[in-house]
Amino acid sequence: MNVIGMISGTSYDAIEAVALEFTLAERSVHARLLGHVSVPYSEDLRSRVAKLLPPQVTTIDEVCRLDTLIGQSFAEVAASLSRDCFAGDVDVVCSHGQTVFHWVKDGHALGTLQIGQGTWIAEATGATVVTDVRSRDVAAGGHGAPLASLMDVLLLGKSPPNVRGALNLGGISNITVVGPEREPIAFDIGPANALMDAAVTWLSHGVETFDGDGASAARGEVDDELLARFLGDPYYAAPAPKSTGKELFHLDYLKSHLTQRALARDDLLATLCELTARTVADAVQDHGVDELFASGGGTRNPTLMEALRRCLPGVAISLIDDFGVPEAAKEATLFALIGFLSVLGLEGSIASCTGARHAAVLGAIIPGRQMVTSLNSNQSPTHLVFDALTRDAS
Ligand SMILES: Nc1ncnc2c1ncn2[C@@H]1O[C@H](COP(=O)(O)OP(=O)(O)O)[C@@H](O)[C@H]1O
Ligand SMILES: [Mg+2]
Repeated sequence: MNVIGMISGTSYDAIEAVALEFTLAERSVHARLLGHVSVPYSEDLRSRVAKLLPPQVTTIDEVCRLDTLIGQSFAEVAASLSRDCFAGDVDVVCSHGQTVFHWVKDGHALGTLQIGQGTWIAEATGATVVTDVRSRDVAAGGHGAPLASLMDVLLLGKSPPNVRGALNLGGISNITVVGPEREPIAFDIGPANALMDAAVTWLSHGVETFDGDGASAARGEVDDELLARFLGDPYYAAPAPKSTGKELFHLDYLKSHLTQRALARDDLLATLCELTARTVADAVQDHGVDELFASGGGTRNPTLMEALRRCLPGVAISLIDDFGVPEAAKEATLFALIGFLSVLGLEGSIASCTGARHAAVLGAIIPGRQMVTSLNSNQSPTHLVFDALTRDAS
């Protein structure tokens, strides 16, 4: 089956899209990655998404406009990737869209909203489109996150001989932990790049949106008092499963932790970078992980990765690329996989990871080229294997 997976993450920096050929054989999903593109949002779209997110207040007409404009942007990327990789013959597009609100109250997810109207993708590609991938898990009592746990368990193994973690460092950090004789678990750890990005955008008046190569953080000194104030947030101590987002970790949150005392930009970035490393290291140690496979934009920040290695001396840290999927393509590949499973009627969530009452077939389906079937859940895959062509994908 020819499948495209797409997402713009909480950093709303770019639309990530992948094209894969999937086959299901004897409970293994075989994947051939044919293409990966990262298409930055237009300047206009990026600044309008920024104005839409909490704690900003928006209007319902702006939500409608952005739902359309983001849907159209995703549609353009999908149509182009389908032409390049499938001669226009994509069967399924699974689009996560753009998260604009993730409603968590008293440790429970009550709702989640991703926009980017999928009908535009169906119209532009003719594909069967799967969208709204998180809501079913929330309705089943789960957090609707981290959905990456599905792919992590298929790649790392449900019950490997050692304790393994798959870590994603996007706007928010999340981890999936698998090991011998234990149920897989997963949770959002806290801010990975969210607060660093907010600080840079604020202090550069929007000229920069992230600390390129962690240069600023590398020059600065950690402010221990400020770090301790950040680490005191009750979110970190709360038990898994749990999820969070930019509804909590935004610029006003950052500012509310600063005192009157002046703090240089480099020192603030060093402190926020250390916060990410420390919260991730705590999560990794709490669950006894001895082998960590990382992905996401944060892996491209050498100051962060160095801090992580310093905080986790006994843990082997490598990139998820070892399993055949380039780290930058991982999240989009996850949604392609979910789309593939959904049109086969197979479950795309793991209840012990999201905290749901049961696993569920995910998404809302817009009819198109691919017929929707309903395989028996005992045909659900137990492994995901990327074939060799993966290495040639751009
Ligand atoms: N070269 C780099 N140096 C420092 N940070 C980087 C670099 N490349 C990416 N990032 C960080 O990664 C973020 C994007 O990561 P991504 O995995 O796309 O997150 P999301 O899934 O939230 O969109 C950027 O906002 C930035 O903070
Ligand atoms: Mg991104």
